[in-house]
Amino acid sequence: MRLKDKVAIVTGGSMGIGKAVCLAFGREGAKVAVVNRTRENGEAVVKEIVDAGGAARAFPCDVSKKAEVDGMVKGVADAFGTVDILVGNAGIMINKPVEDYTEEDWDRMIDTNLKGNFLLSQAIIPIMKKKKYGKLVFMASIAGTHAFPNALPYCASKGGVVMITKALAAEIAKDGINVNCISPGNTATPLNQHLQDDPDFVKLLEGLTPTGRAYIATEEIAGAAVFLASDEASAVHGLDMIVDDGWCVM
Ligand SMILES: NC(=O)c1ccc[n+]([C@@H]2O[C@H](COP(=O)([O-])OP(=O)(O)OC[C@H]3O[C@@H](n4cnc5c(N)ncnc54)[C@H](OP(=O)(O)O)[C@@H]3O)[C@@H](O)[C@H]2O)c1
Repeated sequence: MRLKDKVAIVTGGSMGIGKAVCLAFGREGAKVAVVNRTRENGEAVVKEIVDAGGAARAFPCDVSKKAEVDGMVKGVADAFGTVDILVGNAGIMINKPVEDYTEEDWDRMIDTNLKGNFLLSQAIIPIMKKKKYGKLVFMASIAGTHAFPNALPYCASKGGVVMITKALAAEIAKDGINVNCISPGNTATPLNQHLQDDPDFVKLLEGLTPTGRAYIATEEIAGAAVFLASDEASAVHGLDMIVDDGWCVM
């Protein structure tokens, strides 16, 4: 087991990529804190992990709210003794032409995708610094380094996540903390269900990867998260690990 007895917080753990990360971490022996806003969805993932012989608890929390993040991190540390790993994965996407975005759209995406990871880092890093050990893994996106139309706040938020990763790595690698991010390409999740249901869009995507696949499976992203959260990645700092089926090389 590659994460035996490590305490891992996974935000956005109830669905899609985050759920696959939670299940993979459970299989690898981690104690998993499943974090999202809708309690019953988090509890369902906890049940899957526990039924498979793992350890997990749900911690409902909105990552865009400082008081909730601080309370959640304290709750996890009280319940499991410490925090070893964060996967900052919670994220939302709203697609529109630039002139149609409302101020609220912008705030929701920046607050969830970007500020949430700042708040989580502030709450968790002191715990990790004390024991000179920790792994922070943020879920960025290829949209953080490659432009997509009709996705301005999303691209801006993910570019910010890539730079949170690099700036934090530069600051806290000396404290025994590895900070890295993963940039998934198109991954089949509830976030993009409407696009998976559109055969013309699927055909378009198939032409954009060298593999000819439209969508990556969530488990393929979870594999990267297990690696970056494990001690196998002890010398990896500030990496933006692109897991995109080759989209960006085309
Ligand atoms: N799918 C892709 O193709 C793709 C590609 C590149 C990057 N990504 C990134 O990967 C991450 C996961 O995406 P996904 O496709 O798996 O998304 P998803 O299926 O829509 O799941 C999003 C998760 O985030 C939670 N969440 C949303 N807002 C939250 C908040 N304010 N506080 C706490 N939890 C919150 C949701 O639960 P609740 O609603 O119950 O809170 C859910 O668990 C995101 O950061 C996304 O930007 C995805």
